[in-house]
Amino acid sequence: MIDSEANQSAIRDSFRAAMRHVASTVHAVTTMHAGERHGILATAVSSLSFDPPSLLVCINQAASLHHPLTQAELFAVNVLGLENRDIAEQFAQARGAERFTVGDWADEHGAPVLLGGQSAMVCRRIDCHRFGTHTIVVGELVAARHRQDGAPLTYYDRNYIDISGAPISTI
Ligand SMILES: Cc1cc2nc3c(=O)[nH]c(=O)nc-3n(C[C@H](O)[C@H](O)[C@H](O)COP(=O)(O)O)c2cc1C
Repeated sequence: MIDSEANQSAIRDSFRAAMRHVASTVHAVTTMHAGERHGILATAVSSLSFDPPSLLVCINQAASLHHPLTQAELFAVNVLGLENRDIAEQFAQARGAERFTVGDWADEHGAPVLLGGQSAMVCRRIDCHRFGTHTIVVGELVAARHRQDGAPLTYYDRNYIDISGAPISTI
């Protein structure tokens, strides 16, 4: 049977294995709510449109960020660079506002922005769509900063890797 429980479980395993081999840039998605900073690491981030400038993030409803993010007016997507691995490790090990004790964080336009990150995009929350265990949060950009000399921290096969040395070929 196509939708049997065993089949669903096999599909989930194959999906997990397939996604393990998709290299993804690591982001710290952050917000400020009731005077407290909140944030998690996220790879499920995508640009959405240039007109208006917008992006989306997919956040697990069980994550500590979910409630603050779906209440706050503003949030930030901080693209981590290779030199921000300490931030990724701190976010993985610590909880709550403790996550922000490593790195140079500033509250810009009302959201926590990593000053030494590769890029930071502050967004106004425009829309939320629940799907399965996650919520897709759409944000419209209110500010952005970017470092030209950065290389992204990339997650691949359960490890952080450096893609900046990959051979360059013209398409
Ligand atoms: C590399 C990496 C990528 C992640 N990507 C996402 C993501 O896109 N969305 C999400 O909801 N959680 C993602 N997580 C999990 C969250 O960062 C976080 O660990 C989890 O939500 C539990 O956080 P909490 O302790 O604050 O509730 C990712 C974790 C790692 C290590």
